[in-house]
Amino acid sequence: MILMVGGEKGGVGKTTLATHMAAARAAMGRTVVLVDADSQGTSTIWSDARKEHQQVPQFPCVSLRGGKVHIELRELARHYQDVVVDTGGADSQEFRSAMLAANTLLMPLRPGSFDFWTLIKMGEVVALAEGFNDNLKAAVCLSQVPPTALDRARKEAAEVMTDVPRFTLLNSLTVFRAAFNHSAGEGLTVDEMPRRDPKACSEIGFLHDELFAGA
Ligand SMILES: Nc1ncnc2c1ncn2[C@@H]1O[C@H](COP(=O)(O)OP(=O)(O)OP(=O)(O)O)[C@@H](O)[C@H]1O
Ligand SMILES: [Mg+2]
Repeated sequence: MILMVGGEKGGVGKTTLATHMAAARAAMGRTVVLVDADSQGTSTIWSDARKEHQQVPQFPCVSLRGGKVHIELRELARHYQDVVVDTGGADSQEFRSAMLAANTLLMPLRPGSFDFWTLIKMGEVVALAEGFNDNLKAAVCLSQVPPTALDRARKEAAEVMTDVPRFTLLNSLTVFRAAFNHSAGEGLTVDEMPRRDPKACSEIGFLHDELFAGA
């Protein structure tokens, strides 16, 4: 399966979720490649840090740029069971191109940035891609939700999403937890940290199961 994580907003958790999903697939024994299609190169930095931890499953991270990313993604999908793409925080060439090949686009959004206009614009971009890619599913998940605002965040998101039927709002979300930030610097996931945060781990588990159901 080709999963891409992207969207217009910066800092919402795209790299965090892309790296966690790639590692979760690798932990299941699947062959995985992580694709860094963001010029910031954060997934590449994470992957480099991961090489210091030979006890965790290793998988390659490749950088792809430009408007022909979809061709390379299709080729990678012939060799790896799962391809996870971090397309960064802009409506870029890479973002539009990756959508031509992806099975699923995951767009994390923070509750405060749950911006209706972002979703309208992204909905139009997704509609264009769907013209060329019948398989594309577009999903939104809440990210970095303040622990005290869970119910309000879910309610607000559900209301906004009724106006953008092209996107499915996932049930899974991540709460703002220090464990995510700590694991990022190590090139690890929250599951792989010496002191696991079980709540962060279960949020990632739910997200994985929702995204990869049947895959
Ligand atoms: N659920 C969370 N709780 C706390 N911190 C988080 C969570 N998710 C991500 N972070 C932290 O927030 C910061 C931004 O996350 P991340 O780099 O994944 O976002 P991004 O969308 O990829 O950003 P960019 O647009 O710059 O590529 C990082 O420091 C990350 O560790
Ligand atoms: Mg990023």
